[in-house]
Amino acid sequence: MIDKNARSIRVWDLPVRLFHWTLVILLTVSYFTAQAGGEWMKFHFWSGYAILTLVLFRIAWGFVGSTTARFTDFVKGPGAAIAHLRELVGRGRPREAGHNPLGGAMVVVLLLAVLAQAAAGLFSADTDTGMVTGPLALAIADKWVDRATAFHHYWINVLLALVALHVLAAVVYLVWKRQNLIGAMVSGRKPLDDVVPPGQPAPRLVFAPGRLALSLLLASAAIVYFVVRAGG
Ligand code: HEM
Ligand code: HEM
Repeated sequence: MIDKNARSIRVWDLPVRLFHWTLVILLTVSYFTAQAGGEWMKFHFWSGYAILTLVLFRIAWGFVGSTTARFTDFVKGPGAAIAHLRELVGRGRPREAGHNPLGGAMVVVLLLAVLAQAAAGLFSADTDTGMVTGPLALAIADKWVDRATAFHHYWINVLLALVALHVLAAVVYLVWKRQNLIGAMVSGRKPLDDVVPPGQPAPRLVFAPGRLALSLLLASAAIVYFVVRAGG
């Protein structure tokens, strides 16, 4: 239901918000368990499988989920991204229900970057000790295990840089544009003034059912389970 007089409007569904903050927690767990090594690697693997599940879920949700979760809603050409950048640098007030065209490109980059990190982990191994071996490392030649491991070690730096940029962008919005995108990712709501110009009606957003999200999450977990099991 859209209330024309409402001062705020629901923009993010629960699955997107849960996905986001769980991903943040799990990436932190993955990072520190890798630093700790030893027994902690068990948790590093589990956390990695959960991250893979989440990313697969989010990709599927990007096709069949709520309006603002869909790739068609926020993947735009470079023209739209540049126009948005102009608005951001200038005095304009960006107004968007979901991701803006620049942020949308970043969402795709972040999802792929996280997927690459976790996928490489499946094929990684500590070749010095042979103690920690990704579930698919035994299925490929040593040469490729070395490459996957090197990539896994290197890519985390790229991922951290992307995350830093991502968080910086959110802070720029907060300080420069006085738009609290972080709060919106928590509550799911944005002030109407951040979504449409004054006097304009709120956009019609469709929210996909939670049980569809749950089914996709379970299907994603099943895929990860079978991929991991494939290593024997
Ligand atoms: C582990 C690091 C992080 C990763 C990998 C990450 C990734 C993502 C992804 C994939 C999205 C898109 C959400 C979706 O449509 O499903 C997103 C959105 C968002 N993230 Fe993060 N995030 C991280 C940390 C953070 C942190 C620490 C903050 C806040 C300080 C934050 C603030 C936001 C905000 C505000 C949005 C919505 C942007 C918009 O309105 O277009 N993220 N993030
Ligand atoms: C996105 C999730 C992941 C992140 C952020 C991550 C991060 C890291 C980092 C930073 C290291 C290097 C630790 C160090 O030596 O300083 C590492 C090592 C390792 N990771 Fe991951 N990882 C992820 C997912 C996975 C997954 C899914 C697996 C396998 C199931 C995995 C397997 C390994 C292995 C075997 C090592 C040890 C490699 C070695 O000692 O040379 N990782 N990970």
